Amino acid sequence: MSRFRVRPAARPLTGSVPIVSDKSIGHRALMLGAICGGESTVTGFSYGADNVSTLEALRALGVQVEDDGRGQLRIAGVGLRGFTAPAGVIDCGNSGTTMRLLAGLLAGQPFATTLTGDESLSRRPMRRIAEPLARRGARVQGGAGKSDGELTPPLTVGPLPSGRLLEPLDYESPVASAQVKSAVLLSGLYASGPTRFREPLISRDHTERMLSALGVPLHSAGPMLELHPPRDPMSLRPFQIVLPGDLSAAAFVLVAAALVPESHVTVRGVGVNPTRSGALDALRAFGLPLSVAPRADALGEPVADLTLCAGALGAARVAGELALRAIDEIPILCALAAFASGVTEFADLRELRVKESDRIAAMSAVMRAFGVEVEERPDGLLVEGSGGRQLRAARVASGGDHRIAMSAAVLALVSDGECVIDDVDCVGTSFPRFAGTLRALGAEVEVES
Ligand code: S3P
Repeated sequence: MSRFRVRPAARPLTGSVPIVSDKSIGHRALMLGAICGGESTVTGFSYGADNVSTLEALRALGVQVEDDGRGQLRIAGVGLRGFTAPAGVIDCGNSGTTMRLLAGLLAGQPFATTLTGDESLSRRPMRRIAEPLARRGARVQGGAGKSDGELTPPLTVGPLPSGRLLEPLDYESPVASAQVKSAVLLSGLYASGPTRFREPLISRDHTERMLSALGVPLHSAGPMLELHPPRDPMSLRPFQIVLPGDLSAAAFVLVAAALVPESHVTVRGVGVNPTRSGALDALRAFGLPLSVAPRADALGEPVADLTLCAGALGAARVAGELALRAIDEIPILCALAAFASGVTEFADLRELRVKESDRIAAMSAVMRAFGVEVEERPDGLLVEGSGGRQLRAARVASGGDHRIAMSAAVLALVSDGECVIDDVDCVGTSFPRFAGTLRALGAEVEVES
């Protein structure tokens, strides 16, 4: 098991860095590439373990993917009806997106597939996708979860009796979740009629953007969507995409720059889809001067270079739709709050309790270890910032959650002594070059095994 050894920053972080490609868009490019009617090219593949789980899952379903080992993949799309039954169970590792989105595609297949995951994924709720899929006639079976009626992995999806199609569906999701929305939309490609979907707030819309770019009839009006299944199973247009950089990874670098006095850092080529870029609005709400220089879009996804300088940090309130648009960045925004002047409130974040870990509990424990005052609430937390005073050096463990590990490492940069973050192999799920990127900017972060 590896650990990070982090020294307090002795000088400003400076420089301009590229960033690992977007995990969410990577999953979708692979899955949609697999069901296109021809060959697609994906450039800038991340090799993060979560994206690799999706790649291996598709290969297990008979899709040929050529990988040049330098981030360029050629996917030989098999169309909507070209998957073949896998030889064994498919292991989704730590990746909730792999399991939930794949379940949408598998719901329409004439064979059954069993999806498993690691210890963390095996605890995560799956009723949220099983229910809408079952409503349109799919078979989805899982284990009994802890709470009443919950369903957990392993999941067995399919078979759909041969010659049958899934039914049209009009579904109002109780939770704003891109994974639920995507599972429902992808299953809609295998239906005999339209899919209508509504959610309480608009979750990230990468799936909709990509499906539209590939020619699937999809209409949206606010949080309401309507998808019409294509008649021709080979009709999804093959594509070429240079994957945008991952804002969720860039956020660790930007917050590190915000915390270490006199830093000035640029992260290049970052995806800034507005349904997903709440972290940028949150950085501004804390009073930080962020500049966004737009670059060319990637298959309907806006991309920009982001530059941030350290500055005075006020407290902020992160709640409602802002919280949803920054859902994966809340742990690192907690690190920002821990160093700000005043009390920051994070609210409307019940979903954080069912991510790779219970991130409300995990970040509360990490921040307390660094001497920060935290009040934990059922749906969020209150963080009393140190007002720029160095934090107490600490030794903490990630609990196997990549974003907790990286947030703790960033906190360590503004502590009063050397810190150790244990159990950091998990960082490879989303940002394999995290430590190297911070080192390139001047931080002292070593990886020890
Ligand atoms: C993701 C959606 C979000 C996010 C996750 C990635 C996606 O989850 O937290 O890291 O790629 O669709 P939910 O849709 O469950 O909120």
